[in-house]
Amino acid sequence: MSVLSGVAERLHRPSASGPNLVPELAQESGPSTTLRVRSVSKTFRGAEGTVEALDDVSFEVAAGDFVCFVGPSGCGKSTLLNLIAGLDRPGQGQVMIGPRAITGPGADRVVMFQESALFPWLNVRDNVEFGLAGLSRQERHARSAQYLDMVGLGAFSRAWIHELSGGMKQRVALARALVLDPRVLLMDEPFAALDAQTRDRLLLEVQRIWMETQKTIIFVTHNVREAAVLANRVLVFSARPGRVKAEVTVDAPRPRALKSPDLLAVANHIADELESEVVRAEQEELAIAAAAAAHHAGLRLRREG
Ligand SMILES: Nc1ncnc2c1ncn2[C@@H]1O[C@H](COP(=O)(O)OP(=O)(O)OP(=O)(O)O)[C@@H](O)[C@H]1O
Ligand SMILES: [Mg+2]
Repeated sequence: MSVLSGVAERLHRPSASGPNLVPELAQESGPSTTLRVRSVSKTFRGAEGTVEALDDVSFEVAAGDFVCFVGPSGCGKSTLLNLIAGLDRPGQGQVMIGPRAITGPGADRVVMFQESALFPWLNVRDNVEFGLAGLSRQERHARSAQYLDMVGLGAFSRAWIHELSGGMKQRVALARALVLDPRVLLMDEPFAALDAQTRDRLLLEVQRIWMETQKTIIFVTHNVREAAVLANRVLVFSARPGRVKAEVTVDAPRPRALKSPDLLAVANHIADELESEVVRAEQEELAIAAAAAAHHAGLRLRREG
């Protein structure tokens, strides 16, 4: 059986979005649907003009699924993650978690960024326990110990953040996210700043943790190999405005090894889907830079003339 299948058409079926989505959702989505992004568009308006970041994006994520987003820089991946996290609101469309529209941040969704954003004045354990204020001290310690063990940092609970390597900091950030027991874990290029060896080790750890916890994970990456190793489904986004260009299903058995030849073929397939979009994004950036240069040259001529 092929490990690849492109089903972009399915993702772009017409939808009748409206305020009364809940009954419709109950019919259309199975009980295992955790997240539903429906006809979402987002435009930013600022001093520099208007940026259309996302255009009519629709997809669903089942409970326990592992979905990766790949796409050219600036195509709206982080914007979409922010909308799912409830840190921003869509211009059009809706993001639903279970039967509810997302209107703000919630304990059911936790985001992990490229920078770990840990508190340097707290030790490792207190960082992990930060979101557990309602629990007794004993319960907090039991839970932080459980998740620090899970990320391989059981022996470092009393260490200070400045004593940790970049990879260890991201492990703490992962434990701090998992300890909250969210339904959905949103990871925005969490290992992009790490060296290749640390990154590879952490990828396999994330795979193991996902297999152990069966959390729903959405993971943004520029690395097609990373996407092939981690994901059950890879959504490939177009150049800005971001649209779902293709979906690649990865059926390879787990645990997956980084060097598996099957995965190389999947990674190449994702790269093929991505290539034209990266070129398009680059051409657009160049056109914007050329227009800005022409504008500034015109201003200078007018000043001098
Ligand atoms: N708050 C904002 N105000 C104005 N423009 C924004 C804002 N946030 C994002 N943008 C713009 O929206 C577009 C999409 O940005 P976003 O950060 O979502 O892209 P991305 O796919 O995550 O890129 P990268 O791969 O480089 O992280 C970019 O052109 C960006 O400049
Ligand atoms: Mg981003």
